[in-house]
Amino acid sequence: MDEISRLTSSNPLNEDEVVKEKTLRPHYLHEFVGQKKIIENLKIFIESAKIRNEPLDHVLLAGPPGLGKTTLAHIIARELGVNIKLTSAPIIDKAGDLASILTSLEEKDVLFIDEIHRLSSTLEEILYPAMEDRTIDIIIGQGLGAKSIKINLSPFTLVGATTRTGLLTSALRDRFGIPIRLNYYSIEDLMIIAKRSAGIIGYSITEEACLEIGKRARWTPRIVNRILKRVADFSLVNKFDIIDLEITRYALDRLDIDSLGLDEMDRRILLTIINNYNGGPVGIKTISISVGEEPDTIEDYYEPFLVQVGVLARTPRGRYATPAAYNHLGMNLPEESNTIQKSLFSPGDGLI
Ligand SMILES: Nc1ncnc2c1ncn2[C@@H]1O[C@H](COP(=O)(O)OP(=O)(O)O)[C@@H](O)[C@H]1O
Ligand SMILES: [Mg+2]
Repeated sequence: MDEISRLTSSNPLNEDEVVKEKTLRPHYLHEFVGQKKIIENLKIFIESAKIRNEPLDHVLLAGPPGLGKTTLAHIIARELGVNIKLTSAPIIDKAGDLASILTSLEEKDVLFIDEIHRLSSTLEEILYPAMEDRTIDIIIGQGLGAKSIKINLSPFTLVGATTRTGLLTSALRDRFGIPIRLNYYSIEDLMIIAKRSAGIIGYSITEEACLEIGKRARWTPRIVNRILKRVADFSLVNKFDIIDLEITRYALDRLDIDSLGLDEMDRRILLTIINNYNGGPVGIKTISISVGEEPDTIEDYYEPFLVQVGVLARTPRGRYATPAAYNHLGMNLPEESNTIQKSLFSPGDGLI
């Protein structure tokens, strides 16, 4: 494998995943469900870049995992009619790595950097002139004989994806002309995705089944697809000729996904806070050790959803289980629960 193929690829997943992902992934903007405003604007920016015959401005895609960032990056390249190179910040560890990726780009290529918030500051500094003036400075030689030379890059579009805009320096954030924040999806959109995906994998599905999957999928397309595939397994083995509400509920129960869409780990997080820490406050590291999951995964994936549903509150002092969490888990709020928790009871705070 040469240097560039080690650092980038046209697809970073393994073979098996590539096939599955490729089939379910929308390929064009018109197939991308939901996020209407974003998609309509993006359509204009892409059209305009094509008319000007220039690369699209740099795009930042932010949002929780599974909302379509990688999918959109592919779509952007396809709609522009250009090649895409994919890489991920954690695998670029040297300045030379990033320099060779950047110099390998061809005219108007899209460079997709996943998890861009994890780039070191040294690497970020290489990106600044690359994004702004399409140049990089390379140091040649060592010691007294070392000199810096400027290399011109082909005009390109950087598409960065991040699950956490908060971790991005403002210097980097400001260099993206098109910052996009993907939102959680509506149940209606998730139903459309469930129906579309079922068709692609060759199953008929009822409206009620789509609704049930939509309601329990954490407002996330990736989870819709994951649940759907498992429900399809149950329906196939149980010889259902259509995926209906009955088999869907049965499968979801077997998968331990509850009525709110919480899975086993979600409940474990809440139960740890409730049972071991009297409802909170408790720090993320402590939760991570108790439940046996990486703090990054808890912060990127589990917490945003738990907060949005209203069962978890994040405060500077730590995490709390809200009264809605006790309620959902069928537990009583302890008498001696602290004041912050009590204040979560107050109506109209949007937490319940
Ligand atoms: N808007 C959408 N419409 C239809 N399917 C979607 C949409 N967004 C995401 N998906 C599906 O969800 C899966 C996860 O999307 P992905 O782009 O990998 O998310 P992210 O990169 O944000 O984690 C994709 O395989 C795709 O099939
Ligand atoms: Mg992705």
